[in-house]
Parts: sequence; C-alpha cells; structure tokens
Amino acid sequence: MRFLPDSREPKVAIIGFGYVGCCLGVTLADQGLYVTGIDRNPHLVSELNAGRCHISEPGLSEALEKLRGTSRLTFDTEYDAIKDADVVVIAVGTPIGPDRSLITEQLEEVCATLAPRLRRGQLVVLKSTVAPGTTRGLVRPLLEGGGLVQREDFGLVFCPERLSEGNALSELRELPIIVGGCDPESTHSAAEFWKRALNVPVCEYASPEVAEIVKLADNWWIDHNIALANDLARLCDVFRVDVLQVITGANSLPKGTGHVNILLPSVGVGGYCLTKDPWITWNAARERGVRLKTIETGRAVNDAMPAYTHEAISAELARAGWDPKSAKVAILGAAFKNNTGDLRSTPVKPVVDGLLAAGVTVSLFDPLADPAELRSLMGVEASATLEEAVDGAHCLAVLAGHEPFRQLDFAALRECVPSPCLVFDGRAYYSQETIDELRRLGFDYRGIGR
Ligand SMILES: NC(=O)c1ccc[n+]([C@@H]2O[C@H](COP(=O)([O-])OP(=O)(O)OC[C@H]3O[C@@H](n4cnc5c(N)ncnc54)[C@H](O)[C@@H]3O)[C@@H](O)[C@H]2O)c1
Repeated sequence: MRFLPDSREPKVAIIGFGYVGCCLGVTLADQGLYVTGIDRNPHLVSELNAGRCHISEPGLSEALEKLRGTSRLTFDTEYDAIKDADVVVIAVGTPIGPDRSLITEQLEEVCATLAPRLRRGQLVVLKSTVAPGTTRGLVRPLLEGGGLVQREDFGLVFCPERLSEGNALSELRELPIIVGGCDPESTHSAAEFWKRALNVPVCEYASPEVAEIVKLADNWWIDHNIALANDLARLCDVFRVDVLQVITGANSLPKGTGHVNILLPSVGVGGYCLTKDPWITWNAARERGVRLKTIETGRAVNDAMPAYTHEAISAELARAGWDPKSAKVAILGAAFKNNTGDLRSTPVKPVVDGLLAAGVTVSLFDPLADPAELRSLMGVEASATLEEAVDGAHCLAVLAGHEPFRQLDFAALRECVPSPCLVFDGRAYYSQETIDELRRLGFDYRGIGR
C-alpha cells in the first residue's frame, strides 16, 4: 500500500512541538504544506497561538510571525487533527536516565494516544533520537495496539533529525535526510515526502535500524572528535604550542574521501544531544554484551574539560600573584554553544562551581541567555552589562564564543581591571594578532591548548 496522496500536497501533523518539532513545522509550512503542531504542554500551545515563541533559534520567531493567521500552521494540545493528516511526525524528547539508558516515556505516551486515532493510509515518521531497534521493537507494536497493521494499513519509518542549533532553519532545507522504513513502501513513501516537501537529497535504507544507528554514529563521531581535539589541546599546553596551528596543519592531510578533520577544543561539551546520544549508543551495546570503549573515553575526556578550565584559571591567577580567594573572575558567555542562549547541560556550570569552590568571586555576563535562568542554574546573579561583569576582574574568561565577545574592545576594558589581568580563551579562538594586541595592552593570555 502507498502511504502518500498522489494528487495534492500531504497534510502533516507533528507531535511534540518543542525545539525540533517547531523548527521542522515552521519550515514545512513555509514551503507551503499544511501543518498542525500538537504538544501536551498547554502553556507552549497558547504562547504559539498568541504568536510568541520561547525557542531561541535565529529566524524562527520571524518565520512564525510570517505564518501567523495563514492556516498553514496551527497548534493544538489535542490529537484530533491527526485524522486529517497524511504524515504524522513524532518529535518528542528522549532523555536518558541515571543508568544512561533511554527513557521512552514520552514516546510510549504518544504511541498510546496515537494508536486508536490512526487511520488507513497514514505514514508515521519517527524523528526522536532512539536506541537501535526502538522503531520496530517498541513503536510498531504500540501503534498496532490500536487495531491497524503496519505495512498493510499504515507506514512507519525512522528519519533522524540532524540539524544543529543556531543553523536549524537553513540546515533543514539542505541536509540530506536519512530514511529507514519498516517495509519498502514506507521507505519509498517517506523518501518521496521529503523530496516533495523540502527538495533535499534523501538516503534510503531498507531498515529503521540503519537509520537509527546513522544518527547515533554522527553524534558519536562528533563527541569523539571533540575529545581528540581536547586531548590534543592538553598535549599542546604541555609543549607550549598553539593547538589551532597543529589542527590546521593536521587537517591539511587528504584522507579517505576528504581530509583529516579535527574539530576545535573547548571548555567542554554540553547541550541536549552530545551529552546523551553517545550514552544511548553505549547502553544499547552494553545491553547486548558489547562494550563501546571509544564512547566511554570520549565522554570522560569531554566531561573533564570544565575542571581543566577552572584549574587552569586558578593556576594562572596564582602565577600572576593573585590569591584565588580574593580574586574576581568575569565569565563572559555561559551558553553551551556559541551564539545561542541555550544553557542545557552547559559546561560553564561546572566551571563556575569549581571557581566558587576555590573561593573565587564570580561575575557572569551572557547577552543571549535568560538572566533568571542563569541565576537559578549558576547560583550567581547575572550582570546586566559587560562593563558591570568586568569591573575589577582579575580574569576575563570567555567561555562562549558569541559574536560580541570576538570583537571586544580590550583597550577600553583595560581601564576597568587591575594589572595583571588574564584573558582566558575557552572558545573565542582569538587570532594571533588579537593575542599580540592583548599582550601589548598588558593582559596575560591563556587559551585551551594555547
Ligand atoms: N535539540 C536538538 O538540537 C536536537 C537535534 C536533533 C535531534 N534531536 C532529538 O529530537 C527529539 C526532540 O528534541 P527537542 O530538543 O525538540 O525536545 P523538546 O524537549 O524541546 O521538545 C519535546 C516536546 O514534546 C512534547 N511532548 C512530550 N510528550 C508529549 C506527548 N505525549 N504528546 C505531545 N507532546 C509531547 C513536550 O511538551 C515538548 O514540547 C529528541 O529525541 C532529541 O534527541 C534534538
């Protein structure tokens, strides 16, 4: 059976209208499709209905505003809109528990609510990141609990979301989509849907397990690659060479179908995906008697970077003759990712904790993060301005590479700080020219691996 209408644009329902659901829904509606976003959070739905969007993603609020009142994008807390949809996308959260196993509670709740409402001919697309085997082994039987039979009555595919925060809206229109169906017709219908909806390349696979593992492999690679960069930075610190020079040189080597591609070191890895997806992978293997040691190592290396950072700051303060107990460190940038205000699992939190435990006075400034959220997460009142945060600081620690921090007027800041003052570069990757200028102004400079 074919799971896509021939004669008209498919109607879409997206269950779970958080970060991924909202970015995808807005993009599909902007492409001309009729989309309903369904979320169990009534506050979220009423905010969206009122034209407000709490998600900080460049261009998202503007795109929502453009679609407001057009009927191409509607929102609901109820699942009734499912009956009109041709394609039902599931994009709910899939966190991990204390034992690092996948928590499928949201997914199971969606399936239980969706199952009795499914109708013949619909295509269900799972986007939430899951452990291998979840689409076929958990989602399919739960949906079939409603009485319909997968393949005969409805289609089911896994299509991972691979966008990266900060570039979501452009990436959704460019990234190749991975499609792995529970049967050939589900795979073909989903591939055709994405080509028609977004006009992007589609990679078709004959099983959902391939697609599930593709997603996990991507984030495994990213986390592991960053761990390599972080270890390389620690090595470069020992030999007093610049890790960025080493990475540029190393990456010039052609290898495989591209080049060696070592990513950048930093204060640590945070956010919703890289801190959990490798563990979903690791746990799925562990349950089957296989130990994935590269995941353990990568996670351990990256999790150790905040401690490396605050210890390096304390050591530099002591070397400059400042007692950490009477020193002030201004943290510039608290988000886990450059140019976002996203504080989820930010590695800056353990840096702040470490500095406070060492008796350091900490001030915080992040122009993109919510001040109330900052205060409740960090236990430190956020400064309203850069100048307030920096005033009297013995160290300016740039821990998120937000654009404004790349263009700081260090000559002006020099007037507000004692001498010597350390600029600690956790993510800005200042050029050699800027570092020379900093030294000329009387600042000390230290970076991760620099
Ligand atoms: N955030 C990212 O950058 C990103 C990138 C790629 C993939 N992913 C994956 O996509 C999935 C969604 O991530 P997210 O960041 O959008 O999560 P999120 O927490 O922002 O959104 C999930 C939404 O689902 C809703 N929800 C939960 N249970 C529901 C139910 N039974 N019925 C209706 N709505 C329900 C929640 O209220 C919430 O709004 C996760 O599996 C994540 O790993 C996330």
